[in-house]
Amino acid sequence: MPGDRNEEMLRALREHLAWWGLRHIESDAAYFSWQREVFSPEDLAALHRSIEAKRAATGGSSAEIAFYDLTAQSRFIPALYSQRYEYNLEVGSRIPAHLKGAQTILDAGCGIGLLTTFYAQRCPGATVVGIDRSLASITLARQRAQALGLNNLRFECLDMDQYELSGCYDLIVATHALLQAEQDPGLPSSDWQDFTRALDAGAQSDFEQRTGVGRRLDRLRGVLAATGRMILFEKTRQLARRIPFQRALAARGLMPLRSPEPIRYRSIEEVTDDGPLYVTGLVSSSDLLAWDEAPEPDDAPPLDVEQLRSVRVDRDQPLYENHGASAQQAWGNLPAKQVVEQVTRKETDGRQLHVEWGGAGEFVYLYCANTFDQRQLVVVEQARAAMVHTYYREIVGEPFTSEGRIVR
Ligand SMILES: C[S@@+](CC[C@H](N)C(=O)[O-])C[C@H]1O[C@@H](n2cnc3c(N)ncnc32)[C@H](O)[C@@H]1O
Repeated sequence: MPGDRNEEMLRALREHLAWWGLRHIESDAAYFSWQREVFSPEDLAALHRSIEAKRAATGGSSAEIAFYDLTAQSRFIPALYSQRYEYNLEVGSRIPAHLKGAQTILDAGCGIGLLTTFYAQRCPGATVVGIDRSLASITLARQRAQALGLNNLRFECLDMDQYELSGCYDLIVATHALLQAEQDPGLPSSDWQDFTRALDAGAQSDFEQRTGVGRRLDRLRGVLAATGRMILFEKTRQLARRIPFQRALAARGLMPLRSPEPIRYRSIEEVTDDGPLYVTGLVSSSDLLAWDEAPEPDDAPPLDVEQLRSVRVDRDQPLYENHGASAQQAWGNLPAKQVVEQVTRKETDGRQLHVEWGGAGEFVYLYCANTFDQRQLVVVEQARAAMVHTYYREIVGEPFTSEGRIVR
C-alpha cells in the first residue's frame, strides 16, 4: 500500500539502521571482505559451529538460544545484521502503519530489539514490550533502548514455549519468530495433481507441535485484546507451510484483515521470497476475508502452441519451460497428449512424485509434479526429444547411457 510506507518513514528507518551500525551491502565480495575485518578465524569457526548445531537440533531449543546469544555481541552486530539490511527495511517499514492507535504493543521474539526500538520511536504514546528467550539479545536490546532514550519500551527475557505471557496487548507483532523450523516442509497435498490439503486434524496438530507454532500462537492469543490485531511475518511462502500456518491462525479465531502481502528482498546478493505479511484480528466471520489456500499466481507465460512453432531458443534451451504452479494448467492444455513413460511413487521423505514424458502433436514434453506443490513442464520439438529423455531419466533416477538407453 503506497500510503503505508512513506519516504519520511523509510528515511527514518534507514537512519535507525545506520545508528545500529548496519550498512546496505551490494555484493558478497564486499560483505566477505568486511567480515574478514571484523571476525577473527576463531569467531568465524564458532559462528559456523553454532549455525550447524542450530540446524541439526530437532525439537530442542538450547542450540537455537545459544546461537542467538552468541550473535548478540555488540561487536558482531553491524556485520552480521547487515546481511538482513533489506529484510529490516522491507519488514520494518511496513509495520508502523498498523501500529497507529495502539496503546500496548508486544514484539514477540524481538531478538536484539533492532526493529522494536524503531516501533517504540514511531509510537511515543504507546507502551512497547519486547520479549525474547535469548538473554544476551535482551541485554543488548535494553542497553540500546536506554542509549536511544526510549522510556516507552521495556524488554523481558522469556521463552514463550515454556511460560505463559502476562498483560493484554492491542497489537502483537511477531516477525521471523514463530515458525523458524525452516527444514519442516509442512503438509503435503492430497495428490500430485492437486494443491489442496484435506482437513486432517491429526496432521495439523502434528505440524503445530513439531514446529512449536501452535503453543506460541496460543500464548500470544491469550494476551491479545478482544479488539486487538496480530501482525505476523514468517517463512510461510511455500503453500505446504502457508496452509497449516493459516489454519493454525483460523483455529484461534485469527482472520486476515487485509490481503496477505508477499515480500521480496535481498540478503546481499541472494533474493529471498518471504512472508507473506499477515495483518490479522479476532473479527466475526461475516465481514472478513477468507484465508486463501490457492497457490500464489506465478509469472510464467501461458503455453501457446502457435508461438512455440516460431520461437527461437539456444540449442540447450527448451522451447517452453514452466516451474510455477501454472505448469499444471499448461500441462493439462497440451494438445494431442500421448504419454510414453510415467512413474508415480512415494519418495523416502513421504512426498508423492509423478514424472511423465510423451508427445504432444509435433512436440515432446516432460512433466513433473509432487505433493509439495512443485511443478515443472518442459516442451521441445521432436528433433530434440533426447533432452526430455535425459531429464526424465535424471528425475526417475535410473542410470542411462549417452544415447538415452537405461542401464539395468
Ligand atoms: C530470526 S530472530 C527474529 C528477530 C526479530 N523478530 C526480527 O524480525 O528480526 C528470531 C528470534 O525469536 C526468538 N524466539 C524464538 N522462539 C522463541 C520463544 N519460544 N520465546 C521467545 N523468543 C523466541 C529467538 O530467540 C530469536 O531472537
